[in-house]
Amino acid sequence: MHILVTAGPTREHLDPIRFLSNRSTGKMGFAVAQAAVERGHRVTLVAGPVSLPTPQGVERVDVVSAREMLAAVEHALPNSDALVMTAAVADWRPEQAAATKLKKRETPPLLRLLPNPDILETLAPLKGKRVFVGFAAETGDPTQEAQRKLAAKGLDLIVANDVTAPGAGFAVDTNQVTFISAAAPPQPFPLQSKRDVGRAIVQWLEAARRA
Ligand code: CTP
Repeated sequence: MHILVTAGPTREHLDPIRFLSNRSTGKMGFAVAQAAVERGHRVTLVAGPVSLPTPQGVERVDVVSAREMLAAVEHALPNSDALVMTAAVADWRPEQAAATKLKKRETPPLLRLLPNPDILETLAPLKGKRVFVGFAAETGDPTQEAQRKLAAKGLDLIVANDVTAPGAGFAVDTNQVTFISAAAPPQPFPLQSKRDVGRAIVQWLEAARRA
């Protein structure tokens, strides 16, 4: 399979120096990419700004903003069999990004935010026979929100996790996830390494492809 993976945060700049972003470090997406190449798949990894080495054999495309991520995913999608969106895409961007540094002596800026495009929803009409996997990062029990996002975004699988649970979420090497799909009852996993979560996702993709 050719698997397209997104990872990390996006940054939405106010000026060349300052930006809005989130706590994502990219570890989960890089683990999916690593697990997929280890299984012999071709992998394109669209990464927001992260400081992680590219897994050997992975084709990496670096982006900064949500709109750049959308363009990169849109470009790679026609050649892909599966899309795994682990990226924590910023939902909003400043209405204006200044071309030069905003100066302290000026009036403090009032931030007006615009919604960013939802990458999964934008690309849903181009899905065809591809398998689409999303993540639902929630604070608290993620199940209900994950079910909603599965349907709203037309996904085959959503990987739900409570980012506030011990050992789960941002900047750690472990995660505790539940697979939620339309076809089967929710499948909870124990706390495990992100590498193992990556392997489970790749296994799920292989099974979905065979079905
Ligand atoms: N996602 C996306 N484009 C966005 C935001 C999110 O494609 N602009 C994807 C994420 O990569 C993830 C899934 O949608 O796979 C769910 O993301 P999440 O941040 O949990 O949900 P949101 O749709 O942003 O909804 P909310 O902020 O209300 O939780």
